[in-house]
Amino acid sequence: MKRRAFLAGAAAAAVSVPLTSSAVPQLPPMPDTSGPGLKAHAARSGRRYGCAIKSSQMQSDPALTAAIVREAGVIVQEWELKRNATQQRPDRFDFSGADKLIAFAQKNGMAARGHTLVWYAANPKWLDAAMRTSPRRRQEGLLGGYITAAMRRYAGKITEWDVVNEAIEPKEGRPDGMRAKTIWGEALGEGYIDLAFHLARDADPTARRFLTDYGLEHTSRRCEQRRTAILKLLERLLARGVPVQALGVQGHLKPFQEGFDERVFANFLDEVRGMGLKIAITEFDLADRGGPLDIDQRDAEVAAVGRAFLDVALDNPAVGSVLTWGLSDRYSWLSTYEGYRWPDGELSRGLPLDSNFRRKRLWAAIAQAFDHAPRAEAELPVPGLPA
Ligand code: G3I
Repeated sequence: MKRRAFLAGAAAAAVSVPLTSSAVPQLPPMPDTSGPGLKAHAARSGRRYGCAIKSSQMQSDPALTAAIVREAGVIVQEWELKRNATQQRPDRFDFSGADKLIAFAQKNGMAARGHTLVWYAANPKWLDAAMRTSPRRRQEGLLGGYITAAMRRYAGKITEWDVVNEAIEPKEGRPDGMRAKTIWGEALGEGYIDLAFHLARDADPTARRFLTDYGLEHTSRRCEQRRTAILKLLERLLARGVPVQALGVQGHLKPFQEGFDERVFANFLDEVRGMGLKIAITEFDLADRGGPLDIDQRDAEVAAVGRAFLDVALDNPAVGSVLTWGLSDRYSWLSTYEGYRWPDGELSRGLPLDSNFRRKRLWAAIAQAFDHAPRAEAELPVPGLPA
């Protein structure tokens, strides 16, 4: 596949001939958005497409549920398997939210990812305190007990787990780029990752075990530092025999704030594949703040970057599942997050369907990227069979 540097919007203007006010770029024609859902497009190259869901949204919005059934072949919990949701009290787990989502997936013939077993965020306050004050054995139990309970509960139903999420953070200044402010690392050192993956393999050897992170996609110094840190971490883990099987590239793009170069991203994915790892795009969306105020123009630029990003990702045979972090702009974290939301309260337009569940240009870009993708080698885990 021809690889080219890609910059959206204002960044593109900086690279190519600066746009004058009269030379508004011509809008590409509205693409065809009819036909089967994205899951059908993904299946053509042996992949899965899906999205994150919150059980609360599904319960209150049948239109969302219908759209998910139409488009998604795999789902992931946006909230329900985080410890703030499952373990408000030390002595019991509450999997009721995740049970609803897994039952929905099973009923509709969908696979499911599990997000997430070990994260520095979304932990209940009692857990933060316990990890800071308990003896090591209890600390290890607080880490491992959840992994074992959750993975055994959903064995054969959740086929891919984000075992450890967002373990790096170069901004925090450690020479190795690891996240310093995390109860897990502060208590157990980097070995918390080793322990998590070994326990995950013991709990459900049929599920594919992911290390996941964000900020691996753009050409910015931020992303360059993050790619370096995650590659070095993966090298250390594999050298120690840690049973990590795959890297989850979250794919939260910021097309109007940071550049994208297909060659840079492709080289990174090639390096991950070269380690013998599988890859998934686990939280794809595009923060459109800073883009053109004209919605059609902004949609077109968002779709163009989304297509360029997925063309690279899907050109790598190790890439299996691609999930967006939500399906409709009606429910996107981008519209609530300080750094990305529009000041006037307008919804972000970073997902495949608009707030009325109509397919957008981005939907067509995702469908076309799947349609043009070479076949995946990433034999996707099948519910109930060894990964
Ligand atoms: O469910 C409770 C509700 O009972 C309570 O009344 C309300 C008031 O605080 O909070 C509700 O929980 C919220 C939860 O989403 C469910 O809606 C949490 O406050 C809120 O912090 C949580 O935000 C989620 C965030 O992760 C933190 O868990 C976002 O929706 C979700 O999109 C975001 O997803 C993360 C990924 O897990 C990791 N990668 C980055 C991504 C975006 O930040």
